[in-house]
Amino acid sequence: MDASWQDFVVTFDDQGLANLSSSASQAIQSLSRPRGPRSNITPQQLHDLIWSIDVCPEEGIALSLVLDELGSTVWSNGVAPSDPACVAHLHPPTLIPSVVTELAIAASNQSMDSWDQAPAATEVELHLMNWLARLAGLPAGASGIMTSGGTASNVLALTLARSWIGSTIGVDVLKTGLPENARSWRIVCSDQAHFSVQRAAAQLGLGRDAVVTVATLESGLMSVDALDTTLDQLARDGQRVIAIVATAGTTDLGVIDPLAEIGERAHSIGAWFHVDAAVAGAFLLSDRLKSRLSGIERADSITIDFHKLWWQPFNASALVIRDADQFDLLRVKSNYLDRGDEIEGMINLVGRSLDTSRRFDAAKVVATLRTLGRHSLAQMLEVVVELTQYAGRAIAAEPALRLVAPPASVMCVFEIPGLGADTVRDIQQRLLASGEMVLGRTEIRGQAALKFTFMNPLTTRADVDCLVAMVVREITA
Ligand SMILES: Cc1ncc(COP(=O)(O)O)c(C=O)c1O
Repeated sequence: MDASWQDFVVTFDDQGLANLSSSASQAIQSLSRPRGPRSNITPQQLHDLIWSIDVCPEEGIALSLVLDELGSTVWSNGVAPSDPACVAHLHPPTLIPSVVTELAIAASNQSMDSWDQAPAATEVELHLMNWLARLAGLPAGASGIMTSGGTASNVLALTLARSWIGSTIGVDVLKTGLPENARSWRIVCSDQAHFSVQRAAAQLGLGRDAVVTVATLESGLMSVDALDTTLDQLARDGQRVIAIVATAGTTDLGVIDPLAEIGERAHSIGAWFHVDAAVAGAFLLSDRLKSRLSGIERADSITIDFHKLWWQPFNASALVIRDADQFDLLRVKSNYLDRGDEIEGMINLVGRSLDTSRRFDAAKVVATLRTLGRHSLAQMLEVVVELTQYAGRAIAAEPALRLVAPPASVMCVFEIPGLGADTVRDIQQRLLASGEMVLGRTEIRGQAALKFTFMNPLTTRADVDCLVAMVVREITA
């Protein structure tokens, strides 16, 4: 170690900031990597390489060496989300304003649980949540909270829905647990909804079987007729629908459920209406795309992931709710943190969150929004949506491939007619192993399928042609 431990404590004096700055530029240099979505290192080689590192030597080594080592072992063998062939998941390249703000977030280390650990940061998060709620068309009184991801936002939404339903029958579920009749409580969503709905039901003591799925149309949209039939059947069976979840941008096909109709059904039966807009929530930024989310303004709660189509580094998600007073359903006062006797305006956000200590992720989102502005972000979105349309046409024109459904946002899902699931698996795994392409693989209505997810607005049509050609080459191989 070429410096003493005193030199590593982040301080905000000139010396402390100079130490941070020189290390930051070394960390940035360590990110340099060869082109390609990943290296072709085998899982065993990777295991041996990483596990050969002594994670805690008796005496430290120079930070510059540690950063170099991270570069040559981890970053160079990781995935490059900005590579045009990194198309498996909703895994975006990030934006410079957010990445540099990450450094400041870590260095300043505000903790969002209490005002006395994050006075200005609390106001920033509330300001951002207020803006987001307005963008979604929610009324005054709506607000939200940042979470670690879409899964956490969905769990929080359904936790609130469960407490709210309890409160309508005089039961404080978080205090006394589920009432006897909770065995009949049901959550309704489409068969394309994200698995976090099931996970939430499990965590909330309702059980995964409490989630009733509604059939989707060929395009992947929730069928409103099937929803009506399901709701009628549940009512006849004496089951109580506590929440209906619509998805705005399903994970595979990217489709947006008919939000207005679903919201209307939810409210007509006294159920909470949650919109999982983890994927397509960003469409609210675009004058051209936002009408696709029509009806979102009816939601009681909305999940929006900034770490998807807002190009933020993980973690950054938000749950906004129609009536922010309902966060009180979650609040547990504590003697050391959220006492409830603070001066007016000293808000402790722990009362809204399932976390206690929590990162100041709102800062990087605001830095991005302010640096790029709504128009540039909308343009980036429109570029990836248009690129996906192009890819859909390229796949449809390729006889060896069959497009499962017209692309609805940034995903193209396709099958390989005549090939079984094992061969489809081999194709995806071979491309991953060779480091040529990180390709998505999924299953739609029991049929193995491959998936491109376009998250990079710098990807070109020529790149798309290459991706299609690579898949076709693998089929014939
Ligand atoms: C529709 C939808 N909701 C929720 C999630 C979960 O998001 P996260 O991975 O941020 O927990 C995803 C992830 O892809 C998703 O597609």
